[in-house]
Amino acid sequence: MSTKIRAAITAVGHYVPDKILTNAMLEKMVDTNDEWIRTRTGISERRILENGATSDLAVPAVQNLLKNRGIGADEIDVIIFATVTPDMFFPATACVLQEKIGAKKAWGFDVSAACSGFVYAIALGAQLIEAGTYKKILVVGADKMSSILDYTDRNTCILFGDAGAAVLLEPSSDPNYGIIDHKLYSDGSGGDFLYMKGGGSLNPPSHKTIDDKLHYIYQDGKAVFKVAVVGMADVSEEIMKRNNLTGADVDWLVPHQANLRIIDATANRMGLDKSKVMINIGKYGNTTAATIPLCLSEWWHAGKVKKGQNLVFASFGAGYTWGAVYVKWGF
Ligand code: COA
Repeated sequence: MSTKIRAAITAVGHYVPDKILTNAMLEKMVDTNDEWIRTRTGISERRILENGATSDLAVPAVQNLLKNRGIGADEIDVIIFATVTPDMFFPATACVLQEKIGAKKAWGFDVSAACSGFVYAIALGAQLIEAGTYKKILVVGADKMSSILDYTDRNTCILFGDAGAAVLLEPSSDPNYGIIDHKLYSDGSGGDFLYMKGGGSLNPPSHKTIDDKLHYIYQDGKAVFKVAVVGMADVSEEIMKRNNLTGADVDWLVPHQANLRIIDATANRMGLDKSKVMINIGKYGNTTAATIPLCLSEWWHAGKVKKGQNLVFASFGAGYTWGAVYVKWGF
């Protein structure tokens, strides 16, 4: 009789660059104001990586994780790197990271699912562990959003920041703990509302793509808001129902940090008090694939995540992509 192998998160780590871009600083760059940004989004400031690339946000996050777990990079089997701001189209940023940290025996690849990149990546990683094939999987979410923002466009430049964070997945020593369930969705019809059209095979880089600002994020905020607020709440409710969880059973909602109003709506639908919601959007803005592991790592370092707690991760992003993950914390 074979026993089910369950994947568990066994370590976390994160990194944010030192440079802070405040709402007051943005007021001098575009026609906006602190009050509008705070009340519409919940953001007060965000971090900016001045020198370096997305892999440089991941390296210190992973080094922090390895130190917490007390293992070397050479013990990692697989690197799954969620990002929409890869260092380059290829090689994969997972390979760049592998070289930078010295994860000699690992193989790896990137996942492009925008703000849902981390939930997609952790669901994939969990299944590689459950299959019994690998024992140490690094799941990274990192984005240097400042590299694709138009700092003359007030609709987008106020929303995003730079950060990197990671979790380690290993077979759980007790199958009652770990990644219990996940549910992922895509809807390609959302592609018209949130995108970066330049640089790929559709619009290879040219003077025209630069003049037309195709190398920057475009978002129809209102259109995305309407589906995000429903999508993130729906999938969170779905994962709770599938696992017979009520609001009282959930210890932490770990939501993607795109907009405080979307987070509040999701928590309301789940019947959760705000004290059970990880929120750091005020300090970092939307760091895309990094938001969920960044919350996890900050809360864990603060001693607020404890063995046996029920956590629900929830996200919504470009694609559209969305999903939720149910974790029983195991360490
Ligand atoms: N400062 C001041 N005013 C601004 C502004 C800014 N930075 N950005 C937009 N405005 C203006 C708009 O021009 C508009 O003015 P108008 O009514 O004269 O046209 C007004 O504020 C309202 O704009 P609107 O886009 O309707 O605001 P909103 O309440 O929808 O908030 C977002 C905008 C982007 C914060 C919100 O739509 C959002 O969070 N969308 C979803 C983001 C998301 O989840 N993305 C997926 C993951 S990345």
